[in-house]
Amino acid sequence: MAASFTTSWRCAFLALLALFVSGAYGQLSPTFYASTCPNLTTIVRDAMVTALNPAVGGERRMGASLLRLHFHDCFVEGCDGSVLLDNVPANGSTPAFFGEKNAFGNINSVRGFEVIDTIKAAVEQACPGVVSCADILTLAARDGTFLLGGPTWAVPLGRRDSTTASMDLANRDLPPPFANLVTNPPDGSDLIARFQRKGLSATEMTVLSGAHTIGSAQCQNYRLRLYNENRIDFQFAQGLKANCPQNGPAGDTFLAPLDSTGSTFDNKYYTDLTGLRGLLHSDQVLYPQNNQTQAKIVLKYKGDNTAFFADFAAAMIKMGNLSPLTGTAGQIRTNCRLVNPA
Ligand code: HEM
Ligand SMILES: *[C@@H]1O[C@H](CO)[C@@H](O)[C@H](O)[C@H]1NC(C)=O
Ligand SMILES: *[C@@H]1O[C@H](CO)[C@@H](O)[C@H](O)[C@H]1NC(C)=O
Ligand SMILES: *[C@@H]1O[C@H](CO)[C@@H](O)[C@H](O)[C@H]1NC(C)=O
Repeated sequence: MAASFTTSWRCAFLALLALFVSGAYGQLSPTFYASTCPNLTTIVRDAMVTALNPAVGGERRMGASLLRLHFHDCFVEGCDGSVLLDNVPANGSTPAFFGEKNAFGNINSVRGFEVIDTIKAAVEQACPGVVSCADILTLAARDGTFLLGGPTWAVPLGRRDSTTASMDLANRDLPPPFANLVTNPPDGSDLIARFQRKGLSATEMTVLSGAHTIGSAQCQNYRLRLYNENRIDFQFAQGLKANCPQNGPAGDTFLAPLDSTGSTFDNKYYTDLTGLRGLLHSDQVLYPQNNQTQAKIVLKYKGDNTAFFADFAAAMIKMGNLSPLTGTAGQIRTNCRLVNPA
């Protein structure tokens, strides 16, 4: 009696689990808003063209910034718009809320929130209460990639927005620029392990790092590499040292492009790695001296831009599918920065 009860309970549990897993990963679709917001992709694309156009107050770098923002959304609680939530100060009996914007990888670094606000306002005007902030951010990341010369792809849609965000999870899950490829003994802090925990292989990690073909980083994130490392091109290091002195805070926020063609999405990033001109420590370790399996991934993308574009698009879709909220989970935020009032 007890045994059969346990067995049927276990069957029910497994059925529920299967339902949950398929629900969590199976419901996203590029046509999710086809009838409820047919102009969505056009609205986002037009707004991104404006945001990247210097002639109307935009900047090309914004394409890179939104790509990074989507990555930081997806790696913390899944792609649920959690990174967009503002901090809320304590008020009476309501405790202060510290969102992901305070985390090490985000504070004074991630950008593009105003662009998401602008796109959200345009989308709300066309289709009120229908499209999530998480989906808008995913589309903006795709368009930023494409508008800077990269590949395009059909974005699976149907994510809903979180009602929570976690600074602690962001501090745990966002990779720091001083991370190594592997750690021995393994302690989970290295790049391969961090992406493996999100279901992404070493090859996918290497192709997603190709996002560093666009955008910039601050001196405080590459200073140690300039002054402490020897797997770095001498001229390259000399050039950067001029504006990034050894001792901060002088120069801390000085920006350098992440690859030699920082406003164009191409495979030059991998050429730079083979020339020991990776800007971040976490970039250069992708091309190790002592691991041919890993080095070959870099050489492949260096020699084959078509493969880089195709694999980047596929890996972006996979990263974009990280534990989305679907069905009745979460909500469609009205304001991307705030949970809807109860
Ligand atoms: C592999 C581990 C990674 C590490 C350690 C890392 C770290 C960093 C750091 C430190 C910066 C500079 C931030 C600053 O100085 O303010 C940066 C910029 C950037 N990252 Fe990553 N990143 C990683 C992977 C990725 C991935 C997977 C993507 C997207 C698919 C991405 C996209 C970007 C972009 C586009 C920028 C430039 C942003 C801008 O100019 O506003 N990164 N990253
Ligand atoms: C879609 O946008 C076009 C102009 O860009 C507009 O004429 C049309 O009415 C819009 N359709 C919907 C359903 O909003
Ligand atoms: C506290 O919350 C109330 C109601 O939301 C608001 O009117 C008031 O301005 C808030 N006070 C502070 C100090 O934020
Ligand atoms: C070498 O690189 C491969 C591919 O990234 C990786 O799976 C493996 O763990 C690495 N081994 C060492 C010892 O670094």
